[in-house]
Amino acid sequence: MVLKKVKTAVFISGTGSNLKNLIKFSLLKNSPIKINLVISSNTKAKGLRFAKLFNIKKKTYNFRNKSVTEKIILRELKINEIDLVCLAGFMKILSKNFIKKFRGKILNIHPSLLPKYKGLNTHERVIKNKEKFSGCTVHYVNSKLDAGKIILQKKVRVSKKDNPVSLKRKVLKQEHRLYPKALKKILTNL
Ligand code: GAR
Repeated sequence: MVLKKVKTAVFISGTGSNLKNLIKFSLLKNSPIKINLVISSNTKAKGLRFAKLFNIKKKTYNFRNKSVTEKIILRELKINEIDLVCLAGFMKILSKNFIKKFRGKILNIHPSLLPKYKGLNTHERVIKNKEKFSGCTVHYVNSKLDAGKIILQKKVRVSKKDNPVSLKRKVLKQEHRLYPKALKKILTNL
């Protein structure tokens, strides 16, 4: 049976390790997604090189005027017949209007065990609070920050030796497993 892949846009702001990982996943024969578009909020985002490397259309917007930018992005999503948006290290907060227009079709990955540690500087706060566990979460995006329905989570043990950098590395490794798994969960019957 030939699988019809869901046309996906990935939104990034920085390094793009999740983008690279999602691109590799999308290229697998049985992957439920095809990445047709990469959107960056930062011209200097390292992750943009993965779009170039894999020949994926990319667009960068500075978001100085958020409502105008979002209108342009919505048009771009329509032109490219995008059906799913994956936020992957995207550091801008999308407006209620944008989320409404794409309701139920925007996912995010967050480097904590939500609902704990919403927002920024997750790893620093986890270490400061001497948590024994942290992790990552893939969730639907709704109008409240990092509060949409959870699809999957993965727990990571925090050791006494961990610092924000080592914890980030540990969590990222799990993020790279979790995002594809979450996509399979919602898009296929596996
Ligand atoms: C990831 O850890 C991701 O979970 C986090 O940013 C990092 C991006 O890494 N996202 C957020 O904090 C969203 N609020 P990457 O650019 O290498 O994928």
